[in-house]
Amino acid sequence: MRTPERLAGGDAGNGRPGRVRKDPPKPLAAPPHHRLRRAAPEPDRPPRRGIRVRRRRRAAEGWRYHPARPATSEHRDPELTENPDEAASAPTSVDTTVPHSARVWNYWLGGKDNYAVDREVAEEFRKVFPEISDFARQGRGFLKRAVAYLADEAGIRQFLDLGTGMPTAANTHEVAQAHAPESTVVYVDNDPLVLAHATALLVGAPEGRTDYLHADLRRPEAVLEAAAKTLDFDRPVALLLMGVLGHIPEDEAPGIVARLVEALPSGSHLALWDGTDTDPRGNEALRQYNETAPLPYWTRSPEWIASLFDGLDPVEPGLVPCPQWRPETPEVGAGQYGASLCGVGRKP
Ligand SMILES: C[S@@+](CC[C@H](N)C(=O)[O-])C[C@H]1O[C@@H](n2cnc3c(N)ncnc32)[C@H](O)[C@@H]1O
Repeated sequence: MRTPERLAGGDAGNGRPGRVRKDPPKPLAAPPHHRLRRAAPEPDRPPRRGIRVRRRRRAAEGWRYHPARPATSEHRDPELTENPDEAASAPTSVDTTVPHSARVWNYWLGGKDNYAVDREVAEEFRKVFPEISDFARQGRGFLKRAVAYLADEAGIRQFLDLGTGMPTAANTHEVAQAHAPESTVVYVDNDPLVLAHATALLVGAPEGRTDYLHADLRRPEAVLEAAAKTLDFDRPVALLLMGVLGHIPEDEAPGIVARLVEALPSGSHLALWDGTDTDPRGNEALRQYNETAPLPYWTRSPEWIASLFDGLDPVEPGLVPCPQWRPETPEVGAGQYGASLCGVGRKP
């Protein structure tokens, strides 16, 4: 099995540029939003690209974008942001006294893997933003259609699903292996309850392979190293980031995505969705949720989400609200609530 060390650039002696570099870590990409503040200057950071240049490039690449909207990153944990490799962000045991993202999400999706504390905050949220369950199901709907597209039309046979969540209907391996039984799927989450349910995720098609990693997306090098034990980074991989980047501070997430995409070969795809800050009730519900949530979730501007696809070729229909991404019927796609954006991009 290939390891990142064996894949790494000149050291591997294969004449190809390195895909997984361990030392020194690549500096995080410049935050795309002009309202971002950094706690300390980083002299070796690459110069920021102007937002207009980025807009022009995205327009040239065919990505749709919307005008910039205010960022909301005031709940950032400065210690973790500045020292992502040292700070421990993942709890090590299931705590039933505080709400957890994966369990709250599971409740909104109609699942049973949640506790009273999760249901309580989920219902408080619903009072302000009644569409939340539709919103959650629309994200899952996009995941299902995107994975089907990737397996069927893009010919992808390897999937790296980061921020997996609790097993539910139409999990990535079920969709991928229904279309291409030989597909390999690696799930990654840092919630201990997802870990406890991982065995349910690991039952895949006999021809394929399904693995689960308990790991933190905020440590992309560790994720890549562990995933390379199962995935062949010489062959295209679909990187799935479904509703997870809202949990990552705004100025960290673009660098993490860029690092993960960098590690993948040409022909790989990025598929992601996240919530947008375009609905005042959604923003208010999250503001209240984030006041007490151990793991806050931040909605982002449409332009910020679009910037995550920089350098990738858009797959039709580009960046759209989840219900509108290749809906099974045009009526379904047009009629639903849309404070989310999703897209699929191909690495040239
Ligand atoms: C909103 S749920 C989305 C679940 C699933 N992807 C979906 O679309 O239904 C977010 C998931 O991301 C996970 N998560 C949050 N921060 C994470 C991190 N830093 N590393 C790995 N997983 C994380 C949570 O535990 C949770 O399962």
